[in-house]
Amino acid sequence: MKKFTDPAKLQKWCRGVKAKGRKIALVPTMGYLHDGHLSLIREAKRQGADEIVVSVFVNPVQFGPNEDYEKYPRDEKADWKKCREAGATAVFFPTPANMYLERHSVYVTEEDLSKGLCGARRPGHFRGVCTVVAKLFNITHADVAVFGQKDYQQAQIIKRMARDLNFDIKIVVAPIVREPSGLARSSRNTYLSDEEREAAVAISKAIYAVKEGDGAAQAKRKIAAALEKAGLNVDYVECVDAETLEDAKKAVKGTCVLVAAFCGKTRLIDNRLI
Ligand code: PAF
Repeated sequence: MKKFTDPAKLQKWCRGVKAKGRKIALVPTMGYLHDGHLSLIREAKRQGADEIVVSVFVNPVQFGPNEDYEKYPRDEKADWKKCREAGATAVFFPTPANMYLERHSVYVTEEDLSKGLCGARRPGHFRGVCTVVAKLFNITHADVAVFGQKDYQQAQIIKRMARDLNFDIKIVVAPIVREPSGLARSSRNTYLSDEEREAAVAISKAIYAVKEGDGAAQAKRKIAAALEKAGLNVDYVECVDAETLEDAKKAVKGTCVLVAAFCGKTRLIDNRLI
């Protein structure tokens, strides 16, 4: 497995791979890899890629000033081992300084799907995500990139960015991987105490308690009540059209129920496609 830290070197290597007619898959991550990420690497393999590039980069540009950029968990050694075991062929560990050169001044903004949900609560977050993902697409010349459904809004925005900016890349969205309790796997779960981890299970329970055909307002009320009962602080509960992310009237096929809630100080997100 190859290791790159310099974007220019990775870009040159990828250019060589493509010149031989070989296919590249990209799995963008912020590291501290768990089973959810490993499922993305396996999905990249299923896509028939010859080279699977995993990027491990805690992207400062997508964190707000009061968010957890500094304390976001990092473990490069463990990530390296997990990537190799899951079948990656190259890992990219750039630094903020070599991703964002002095006087970096170009950013990518998506102006429709980013307006609500996490976009409304985390100003600038998706601008940071789109910018780094666009850079990773350009660095790797990937044919396919795999993202997790757990970040549902992010995946929709990236699909829109690829479409609107004519990136020649297939975007694959892989299903959420859950702990046996139902809690969606996330690197941020490491922040949770044992009690918080138990309370956090209420999120997946509540979204799976929604029945197809339920009215959106009633479903949202029920979810919010269940989360509050478990001691969580609701950031948002929404039921939206899965494509446009506009409010839906009913939780029917083609809609998505999304939740963001604070469990102690940890903000967790989850969703369910009806
Ligand atoms: O989903 C994530 O881990 C990040 O937002 C991503 C896509 C790797 C961009 O930094």
